[in-house]
Amino acid sequence: MFDLSGKTALVTGGASGIGLAISKTFAKQGAYVHILEVNIDLTNQVVNDILAEGGQAKAHVLDISKQADVVNVVNSIADSHPIHILVNNAGVAHIGKADTTAEIDFDRVVNVNVKGVYNCLMATIPHLKTNGGGVILNMASIAATVGIPERFAYSATKGAVYSMTLSVARDYLSDGIRCNSISPARVHTPFVDGFIAKTYPGREEEMFEKLSKTQPIGRMAKPEEIGALALYLCSDEASFITGCDYLIDGGFEKLNN
Ligand SMILES: NC(=O)c1ccc[n+]([C@@H]2O[C@H](COP(=O)([O-])OP(=O)(O)OC[C@H]3O[C@@H](n4cnc5c(N)ncnc54)[C@H](O)[C@@H]3O)[C@@H](O)[C@H]2O)c1
Repeated sequence: MFDLSGKTALVTGGASGIGLAISKTFAKQGAYVHILEVNIDLTNQVVNDILAEGGQAKAHVLDISKQADVVNVVNSIADSHPIHILVNNAGVAHIGKADTTAEIDFDRVVNVNVKGVYNCLMATIPHLKTNGGGVILNMASIAATVGIPERFAYSATKGAVYSMTLSVARDYLSDGIRCNSISPARVHTPFVDGFIAKTYPGREEEMFEKLSKTQPIGRMAKPEEIGALALYLCSDEASFITGCDYLIDGGFEKLNN
């Protein structure tokens, strides 16, 4: 079960945190993983690790907010391998309310989290259609559906990821393309460590504990736990699932009462 042998998967932001776990899990299950990343040093290291473990992977330097670059990279991959899976994982965060979010920050978060996802969809979907179908998985967040304090721009973008998931799932039903999203609560990744270090300098340990306990299960998720759900949703075993968002939140949304 959950065998990805013979499949080609594109993973954006696939060199760190959740994306890293997805890249490694997919490679372990036999996929050829193409990592689309801005952080090329980290990506080369991850690709070397995957190759050393007997997997198949390739690094691509790419800022997903630049449409022409995305189209070039995706077309070059499709020239050598038919694409079966797209994981839109790359994302950036911002802390602020509507009246404390500067235009430059709003634009930066929207450019990566919304336009970046759109760019990858518009570049990849024609190839999936040509191949007779495929799977798309988008990384949303509980911030799409819950009011998280001071996440105005971030929440707006994750709401958009959720809506794009439904739209794409609906539009390409007859092309054999499934599209779903995952909404994690806090996952222990460099994304969260960076946020804590920047926002609460000197109080990192205390805040890590506090943020861990906001999940009723008592801890943050491990990236590998998100990787396992991503594997299921992108595998043939999930062939009846499309247009769904999957909470993976340690009870955050339903048990915090
Ligand atoms: N960590 C959490 O608690 C959490 C919770 C819910 C949702 N998410 C979402 O999961 C995804 C991954 O988060 P993470 O915690 O693993 O983050 P992370 O910062 O550890 O990794 C994100 C990766 O994306 C890459 N990236 C950033 N901008 C890019 C761009 N323009 N083009 C290409 N690559 C780019 C970065 O280089 C980095 O390697 C994000 O979409 C995030 O919003 C994270």
